[in-house]
Amino acid sequence: MTFLSREQLERMGFKSLGEDVKVSDKASIYNAANISIGDHSRVDDFSILSAGTGGISIGRYCHVACHSTLIGKAPIVLEDYVALSAHVAIFSSTDDFSGRAMANPTLPEEVRHVIHGNVTLHRFSAIGANSVILPGVDMGEGAALGALSLARASLEPFGIYVGAPARKVSERKRDLLEVEKQFRSMLMARTA
Ligand SMILES: CC(C)(COP(=O)(O)OP(=O)(O)OC[C@H]1O[C@@H](n2cnc3c(N)ncnc32)[C@H](O)[C@@H]1OP(=O)(O)O)[C@@H](O)C(=O)NCCC(=O)NCCS
Repeated sequence: MTFLSREQLERMGFKSLGEDVKVSDKASIYNAANISIGDHSRVDDFSILSAGTGGISIGRYCHVACHSTLIGKAPIVLEDYVALSAHVAIFSSTDDFSGRAMANPTLPEEVRHVIHGNVTLHRFSAIGANSVILPGVDMGEGAALGALSLARASLEPFGIYVGAPARKVSERKRDLLEVEKQFRSMLMARTA
């Protein structure tokens, strides 16, 4: 994969850009002025970050795998250590498909009913390949969503959820909290 150079990234005018940020030269970035990307995070080939007025905020050590899409008017927040597998789609805005209104962006606002809702993926949350998150979902710290799943409602911290709509099937181990402490000690030892 080829990543944009620091100079290229800075020219794009991100709201903020941490250290060692990697963005593929095949990713599409819209409205960079409303996008923040934290230290050591990576955005892979064919991903789309399309920020609305609420912006997209990506924390530290996050991975947006290939073909993932983050799009919508309301804020989308990925806290530190979030993992998005390939083909994940996160929407903070959606047309209303109920039939009350027409539903696609070629049409004027007057004939559409667009629903907006903040999406927050808290620390350590992980999403399996080809899964979809709809507006308003709050994915608790450490929650996991299996491959090919659909989250329409919020997910409890450290729950493992699968299916469409997503249902909780088990508890995720909390060992990773200890592992993260070790990781931070490793980093501190390196810089000492
Ligand atoms: C959700 C997931 C984390 C569950 O793993 P696990 O905790 O080991 O759970 P299990 O394999 O014991 O499965 C528990 C139950 O959920 C079902 N299940 C597991 N993953 C599922 C999925 N993605 N969709 C629907 N059902 C699923 C299992 O069939 C099992 O059902 P059963 O109890 O009726 O037999 C894992 O299956 C998954 O989807 N991981 C995503 C990985 C991925 O996308 N990687 C991309 C590269 S990083």
